Amino acid sequence: MLRRMRLYTEQGVTADMRISQSSFAARRQQLMDQMSPGSVAVIPSAKEVARNRDVEYPFRQDSDFYYLTGFNEPDALLILIPGRNEGQVVMFCRARDPEMEIWNGYRAGPEGVCNQHGVDQAYGCAEIDERVPQLLQGSERLYYSIGTDETLDGQVRDWLNSIRKQARMGAVAPGEIVMLDHLLHEMRLFKADDEVEMMREAGRISAEAHVRAMQQCKPGLTEYQLEAEITHHFAVNGCRQPAYSSSVGGGDNACVLHYTENWDVLKDGDLVLIDAGCELEYYAGDITRTFPVSGKFSTEQKAIYELVLHVQQACIDAIRPGVPWIRIHNISVEVLTQGLVDLGLLKGDIEGLIDTGAYKAFYMHRIGHWLGMDVHDVGDYKVDGDWRPLQAGMVMTVEPGIYISPQNELVEEKWRGIGVRIEDDMLVTEEGCENFSAGVPKTVAEIEALMAR
Ligand code: GLY
Ligand code: MN
Ligand code: MN
Repeated sequence: MLRRMRLYTEQGVTADMRISQSSFAARRQQLMDQMSPGSVAVIPSAKEVARNRDVEYPFRQDSDFYYLTGFNEPDALLILIPGRNEGQVVMFCRARDPEMEIWNGYRAGPEGVCNQHGVDQAYGCAEIDERVPQLLQGSERLYYSIGTDETLDGQVRDWLNSIRKQARMGAVAPGEIVMLDHLLHEMRLFKADDEVEMMREAGRISAEAHVRAMQQCKPGLTEYQLEAEITHHFAVNGCRQPAYSSSVGGGDNACVLHYTENWDVLKDGDLVLIDAGCELEYYAGDITRTFPVSGKFSTEQKAIYELVLHVQQACIDAIRPGVPWIRIHNISVEVLTQGLVDLGLLKGDIEGLIDTGAYKAFYMHRIGHWLGMDVHDVGDYKVDGDWRPLQAGMVMTVEPGIYISPQNELVEEKWRGIGVRIEDDMLVTEEGCENFSAGVPKTVAEIEALMAR
């Protein structure tokens, strides 16, 4: 369930949406129901990372930890012990500290964590080394995602060793360590109703930001000024951080897949490619649009653009439960290769051009990725060695592109330096799919009409 509060901003009323505590509790229970009997899970929060003297990068909670807790502080550790009489959910967190709180802000402390986050027992970080071995003791299996945090890996080893030292007193350390990722990431791959609602909203805000950029764009503006239009719209809607570094690339810069310098001047006659999405309450939007800086496509730009759009539509039309994920990618390769041949940019038979990978000179990435709390979200793409079929509740991007390098001497000069990507965020539904990012235009006629206004 989503909790909604009304916020009043200069732009009007926006909704501050939150996932409710009952949802976080239900997720923890769902995970514990799948853990093997006699097991325990250890899930760490993110840490603060220094940027330079006395300044940290903006704190962003670890997605797995937030998914299970809704708790937004660093230096915390969640322990899940299904079936434990004294409480299944234990948290270690920063203790309250009046002086630190005057300097750096409010801390929930163990009591706050119990009251506000539905945790059964909570302790300050100082008690970790004493208490965690007691909590792990007696479990047969430890779910812990080893290899992400070296310091914590060492601490876990020390906790296990301290239990082993007590063997003659009857203490038993878990004999098996298993990655938690599979169980947890399979849950995150399928979006519940409240997550869908949040992602729909993230898509809506992200789409509005792209519309704003199209409206504000004109020759002479810099890429960073156009980026600022996007960032502004995210921020006034409660998304202070984008889901990833926004890419605003004019002209040749559109051919750099993850261009983030955003420093050049936008020129009359060029296209600009914007790949930007907001992060709303830990859920990502991920939209790309490509449009003419001065509002009107040239003949070649239009030809490439319409081919990419045609590829994207063919992929979107194919999305429905049961279709293997890789089929959507393969459709993009087939339709795009045929289109490049029709335009004279590739020569040869379609099958051969696909088999040899000749199309990769223009289209070098996959059709998309899972989308959720992480922009490149968790979840396996293959199950038991086979590409998995799409299922209702999955969210994926569909983002074909054609990038004609300015150095590509195999094509006529008029094509060089054109880069086009079109990206939307699709929820797989029982009937087919829903586009979260439909609010931003993408046909040539719609874009030219919007920019002419
Ligand atoms: N924004 C990164 C991507 O589209 O994958
Ligand atoms: Mn993407
Ligand atoms: Mn993107």
